[in-house]
Amino acid sequence: MKILVLNGPNLQLLGRRKVEVYGVVPLHEIEARLRVVASELGVELSFMQSNHEGVIVDAIAQALADGVDGLVINPAAYTHTSVAIRDAIEGVRLPAVEIHLSNIHAREGFRHDSLTAPVCIGQIAGLGADGYEWALRALVRYINNKTTKAQG
Ligand code: DQA
Repeated sequence: MKILVLNGPNLQLLGRRKVEVYGVVPLHEIEARLRVVASELGVELSFMQSNHEGVIVDAIAQALADGVDGLVINPAAYTHTSVAIRDAIEGVRLPAVEIHLSNIHAREGFRHDSLTAPVCIGQIAGLGADGYEWALRALVRYINNKTTKAQG
């Protein structure tokens, strides 16, 4: 099973950016932790981070072409604005779990709405860097359950 972990704008600054909100764990450390979980689960991971909406849209389309089975995505600020990323997730019809380090529902009003969550199987928010692990585990279980059902 292949999973793509996608991170949107400014997440390359994790560990330095608003640490009281996003925590001290840098993105490369999150990726290292996910690799450990992935090897436990026996899944293959790839990572990408971009500050550009179109690059993220292209990466979602490419995921389908590359035979990726599911997405873990933190669209960051694009969560609240990007019809294009929402349409891309919906368009490829790959299961996706949306993850946010912070609890977007407890923050400024403009962060309460997610344009992308409705086309994801679920959303994890507010659990900090650990949320990436829960997102990956939830996604892999979802895909496994679906595959088992389809075979049975
Ligand atoms: C974020 C929440 C977004 O509102 C914000 O723009 C981010 C990070 C999070 O992980 O908590 O950049 O997606």
